[in-house]
Amino acid sequence: MGWPRARSQVLKRNDKVHLSGVERTFPEDDIIVSKTDLKGNLTYANKIFIDISGYTEKELIGQPHSILRNPQMPRVMFKVLWCMLQSGSEIFAYVVNRCKNGDHYWVYAHATPSFDLKGNIIGYHSNRRVPDRRILEEHIIPLYAKLREEEQRHTSAKDGLTASTKMLESMLDDLGMDYDEFIATVGKERHGSRPSGRRRQGYDKETERCVWA
Ligand SMILES: Cc1cc2nc3c(=O)[nH]c(=O)nc-3n(C[C@H](O)[C@H](O)[C@H](O)COP(=O)(O)O)c2cc1C
Repeated sequence: MGWPRARSQVLKRNDKVHLSGVERTFPEDDIIVSKTDLKGNLTYANKIFIDISGYTEKELIGQPHSILRNPQMPRVMFKVLWCMLQSGSEIFAYVVNRCKNGDHYWVYAHATPSFDLKGNIIGYHSNRRVPDRRILEEHIIPLYAKLREEEQRHTSAKDGLTASTKMLESMLDDLGMDYDEFIATVGKERHGSRPSGRRRQGYDKETERCVWA
C-alpha cells in the first residue's frame, strides 16, 4: 500500500502546504541529528539533516521543529512524542517529514530529553535512521492513514485529536501492549505470551500529563 498522493488529500487549515509526492531517501549508514530547546525550537541540525530538508542551517536554527511537519503525520503521534519526552522518557517513532520544496522523507527516530546534572530537562535530542521499508508499508503507513483520517473527520482539531488518541489507545489495548512494546515489535514475529502487568501508557486529559494507568 502506498502513501496517499498529495493531490488527492483533503487538507485542513494549517495543513494546507504543498506536497510534491516525491520521496527522498538517505544512505543506511547516515544518521539525521537534531537538538531542540524545551519548546522544540531547533538549536542544532547536522549536515545530513540540513541536506535532506532542503533548508539552510540559517533557515533552520531557532525555528520550531514543526518546520518539517508533514500534514500526513497524525497529530496524535506528536502528542505521544511530547508526552513521553516531557515525562523524561525516550521515544522511538516512525516519522514522515516534509522538505522545503514539498518532497518528503521517512525516518525511524529516537528522541530523548537532555538532562543537566540535577536531573532537570534542558532540551531534547533526536537521531534518525532509515526505516525498514516493509514495516513502513505494511504497518505504519496504513496505521497513520487511519489515524489521520480520524483526525480529519472532525471539524475541530481538538476533537480530531481526542478521537485519534482513543483510536491509538484502543489499538494498543487490543494488542495488549503499551506504545514502547508496539514500536519495538511492530512487523516482527512475536514469540511466547504477552508480558502481563505492565502499566499501560496513555495521556491523561485532566492533568494533560503522560500517564501509565
Ligand atoms: C527532539 C524533537 C524532535 C522532533 N522531530 C520532529 C520531526 O522530525 N518532524 C516533525 O514534524 N516534528 C518533530 N518534532 C515535533 C515538533 O516539535 C512538533 O510537535 C510537530 O512537528 C507538530 O507540530 P504542530 O504541533 O505545530 O502541528 C520533534 C520534537 C522534538 C522535541
